Amino acid sequence: MTILEAIESRHSVRTYFDKKIEPELMVKINEHINALNSVSGLRFQVLFDQPKPFDNMVARYGGFSNVHSFIALVGKDTDKLDHLCGYYGQMAVLYLQGLGLNSCWVALTYSKKKTEIHVDKGERLVAVITFGYGKTQGKPHRSKSREKVTVLHSVAQPWFYNGVDAALLAPTALNQQEFSLELLNDTVQLVKKSGFYADIDMGIIQLHFELGAGKESFVWKDGWMENLKKHVRLHAQQIKWCNQ
Ligand SMILES: Cc1cc2nc3c(=O)[nH]c(=O)nc-3n(C[C@H](O)[C@H](O)[C@H](O)COP(=O)(O)O)c2cc1C
Repeated sequence: MTILEAIESRHSVRTYFDKKIEPELMVKINEHINALNSVSGLRFQVLFDQPKPFDNMVARYGGFSNVHSFIALVGKDTDKLDHLCGYYGQMAVLYLQGLGLNSCWVALTYSKKKTEIHVDKGERLVAVITFGYGKTQGKPHRSKSREKVTVLHSVAQPWFYNGVDAALLAPTALNQQEFSLELLNDTVQLVKKSGFYADIDMGIIQLHFELGAGKESFVWKDGWMENLKKHVRLHAQQIKWCNQ
């Protein structure tokens, strides 16, 4: 599976078979998360066989069942933490998809009290990503149109629309898709609108846009985002996307 195929086939899946993750996949997932942590400086943690956070009314009401495994997105509590967790967390989501697993972002509908996640002083738990063998593959979300999420100050080339289409396939909290992508020549600005967990969404959308458009096709107007893109490219070797 290519990374673009992973983007297209991924949908949130909340109900899983009551089946443990195969040992060889556990090894791959741990390796991948370690690689992401070493590149990002974040402290993502993989928890296998930990049903407690999803064994309660809130999670069940939210549609979750047989959640045994998840990735806890933890990092140093800076104002960029949510965006970084979105960006690197979505790399993990696409990696899981490439391994043939299913997943779901969860910021709200789980119990933090019952987790065995390590959050040191000065760190924050941003969200978790559940994963497992899905009972279904999920279904495509309702999506805004290209026109609703773009502002053109110059003529758009195909790479821009490829990026927009990938961004529209991204998961966002409550499927809000509260963003716009503004184009001027080869410069793109990602504009955050209001919304819950909007900064996490922006990190996810940044990654999807880069993967769809091709990182070399454009520069981000925001220097910090452009640096993040360059930084990830430098470490591309370390981040093995899928099981290829
Ligand atoms: C930052 C973030 C937080 C989310 N939190 C929850 C949550 O607490 N509970 C839940 O059931 N789904 C949650 N989701 C999943 C979204 O509802 C889902 O991604 C969205 O409806 C789009 O559907 P899709 O992922 O199938 O494309 C979250 C997604 C994101 C990106």
